[in-house]
Amino acid sequence: MNILLIGSGGREHAIAIALAKSPLLETLFAAPGNPGMEGLARFVSLDVADHQAVAAFCKENRVDLVVVGPEAPLVAGLVDDLTAAGIRAFGPSKAAARLEGSKSFTKAFCARHAIPTAAYACFTDAASASAYVRAKGAPIVIKADGLAAGKGVTVAMSLAEAEAAIETLFSSGLGESGIVIEEFLEGEEVSFFALCDGTHAVSFASAQDHKRVGEGESGPNTGGMGAYSPAPVMDAQMSERVMREIITPTLHGMAAAGAPFKGVLFAGLMICAEGPKLIEYNVRFGDPETQAILPRLEEDLLPLMLACADGCLLERPARLSPLTTLTVVLAAKGYPGAPLRGSEILGLEEAEAMPFVAITHAGTKRDGQRLIADGGRVLNVTAAGADVTEARARAYAAIAMIDWPGGFYRRDIGWRALKFALKSV
Ligand code: AMP
Ligand code: GLY
Repeated sequence: MNILLIGSGGREHAIAIALAKSPLLETLFAAPGNPGMEGLARFVSLDVADHQAVAAFCKENRVDLVVVGPEAPLVAGLVDDLTAAGIRAFGPSKAAARLEGSKSFTKAFCARHAIPTAAYACFTDAASASAYVRAKGAPIVIKADGLAAGKGVTVAMSLAEAEAAIETLFSSGLGESGIVIEEFLEGEEVSFFALCDGTHAVSFASAQDHKRVGEGESGPNTGGMGAYSPAPVMDAQMSERVMREIITPTLHGMAAAGAPFKGVLFAGLMICAEGPKLIEYNVRFGDPETQAILPRLEEDLLPLMLACADGCLLERPARLSPLTTLTVVLAAKGYPGAPLRGSEILGLEEAEAMPFVAITHAGTKRDGQRLIADGGRVLNVTAAGADVTEARARAYAAIAMIDWPGGFYRRDIGWRALKFALKSV
């Protein structure tokens, strides 16, 4: 089979590694791909926003499945246009992608289907939003309604912080489709992934990521500085509960509304004292969670993706290794502000040769023979072990082999899981 993979990050590199293992794969095309995929994929330069051009490429190259990595093309309706052109795709339609693209849509959907989530209200002007937070008090959470690339959320610990966030959202334009104000949820945050074929969902994997740039969860939010899988709180019982209370009602509700969800549904959850609650949905794989999860997959990813697209998923969870994997993100100095570009990275082969280690690229570029940094999050180092302690030791041992003075990383990835392990002894 010929596959076209859309995207250029560490997530897409991890997907490329998994797809390359499939005996069903003939040619993997990546648009645009990244230098880590050399030898795995043929790079194609396509304007992904030009859906007709993507469809024409697929026809010419007999592409059997398009795998869409990031959310923006899904929210823009790429899958709808491919489907209309008779091309199969892994990922939701534009209508189903509203679960990520519009927070107010998702909140109203949860209310209609009794899906547990934080209490909320929507606003289109700063004065009524501020009056609401003054009535509710802090802590409280302020969010832009549309896609904001991780920049639209403030967990305000004080009223002043909440009012400042409201002001900023409306004055910067991020709040132009409105804002959502939510009750602050307390608990353990988890990323949960389910594969969906429009009518059925099966549990795929859980992970936890580290969103803040600094150690001890300090500094600004990022796309994610590291992750591990599984999340210790997500035992079989909790996974089953999340499927029953959150994921399955979502699948049924979306299908009943004429927008069946196909692809991977990524639920950002808070495991609260009273049970799991949905913080947000994403309609694609997580980054860096995927870099941690996919090395645990003990079956062929391609048939699973085909089954999602074709509406014929088997009703059983995906087969995952009981090992723990842990991914550390290496970012360029300056991230998440203005990352320094162009610094050279050495020692990757030595690091990759370490046992139980896989490295994915996220923001690298070839400059002749040299590999240089060309983005914020640049590399992901993943290692597997019997538990978090072992996986973590292996990941950091591999990082020690990498010679990249232009980069930095957090040395405390996995601290929550270690704390959990101590608690449960
Ligand atoms: P989001 O972009 O919705 O994932 O929000 C970013 C981060 O803000 C989440 O990963 C949580 O850590 C935090 N967050 C969002 N909503 C809430 C909430 N209602 N209560 C507590 N924390 C939240
Ligand atoms: N790691 C969170 C995300 O992919 O949105």
